[in-house]
Amino acid sequence: MANHRVNLKQIKLHYQHALPNQMVTAVVVLDHNLRICYVNPAAEALLVKSFNKLYRLTIAQVFYNTPINTRRLEQLLTTGQEFSDSDVTIEFFDHRQITVEITASSVTFEQCPHILLEFKQIDQQKQISDEAFQQQQWESARDLIRGLAHEIKNPLGGLRGAAQLLDKELNIEQREYTAMIIEQADRLTDLVDRLLGPNQLPIMKTQNIHIVLEKVFKLTQFDNPKNITLVRDYDPSIPEITFDQDKLQQTLINIVHNAMQVLQNQHSITLKTRAANNKTINGKRIKLCAQISIIDDGPGIPEHIQSTLFYPMVSGRAAGTGLGLSICQTIIHQHQGKLYCKSRPGRTEFTILLPFNSEN
Ligand SMILES: Nc1ncnc2c1ncn2[C@@H]1O[C@H](COP(=O)(O)OP(=O)(O)O)[C@@H](O)[C@H]1O
Ligand SMILES: [Mg+2]
Repeated sequence: MANHRVNLKQIKLHYQHALPNQMVTAVVVLDHNLRICYVNPAAEALLVKSFNKLYRLTIAQVFYNTPINTRRLEQLLTTGQEFSDSDVTIEFFDHRQITVEITASSVTFEQCPHILLEFKQIDQQKQISDEAFQQQQWESARDLIRGLAHEIKNPLGGLRGAAQLLDKELNIEQREYTAMIIEQADRLTDLVDRLLGPNQLPIMKTQNIHIVLEKVFKLTQFDNPKNITLVRDYDPSIPEITFDQDKLQQTLINIVHNAMQVLQNQHSITLKTRAANNKTINGKRIKLCAQISIIDDGPGIPEHIQSTLFYPMVSGRAAGTGLGLSICQTIIHQHQGKLYCKSRPGRTEFTILLPFNSEN
């Protein structure tokens, strides 16, 4: 034990010496058995665990999902061949994810080979710029579609009016045709209205979010042919916040409904609420939010639509319109909130953040 203390101290001193920027770079040192023998304070912060807890653990015991596997590490020990991965996503056992740049190199201590892993977190600035970019893209897609929908809607009204006038001039048999024009025009108007998105402003009221969650829970339970397990995980202490009850309900139902469509029997959907601190919404730091998560253990969002998931007309289903999530996004925007999704096979989580404003 005493010996090991000396080692750690030496290792620590060495790194502090060798890595002047160690404040920002998280450093993890593995011994030749690939067990953690040192972490610097930045690594403790990144891994949200103290050195004492991390000591002697393997990488597989710390990360749930990471591209650094035993094979690569063993290869590094034997060949000394360093590797570095940029822009890798690491997942922890509590499903927290971080994006980092990893550099792995070999170092020798007391004639024993060790591995030095350096993690540079690129999350925060990346997340903010990614979000701003996504937001811009979403807004331009939405504006484009809205503009188009407007352009279609106007002549469509004229078309329908003209067919109605013509209808009066025709005999019964010929009216079949005008009826068809009117019916199809109505179908198109309906589609165009949905493309335009919600057109009334929300009716805001200060109330408990669980009223809505309970309604969604009951409605879903009533219409649950696949017998999907619905789990409630509420934080009842969340204070009342200001929102439009119908619109929030519509949003939650859309999200739950999407999950119900892809889930099979035996699977589950969890409705979870929490109070959340210090979240970024539209680039602004928000002190306190109500956080609603809808989590399922289904197949995950198809990879090819993940980056455009909230755009209008993006759907992974043959019969889908792709309007549901776009409408949800508009509604949450009207509430100055944020809606985002993290998904991989086996776990999809939609998160809604609703800020407590000064009135709250
Ligand atoms: N929980 C989920 N699990 C897997 N895929 C999902 C989930 N929620 C949404 N999706 C995917 O996102 C697509 C877009 O959803 P949405 O905007 O509601 O449009 P639509 O339901 O009309 O397709 C769906 O078609 C589906 O492929
Ligand atoms: Mg849908």
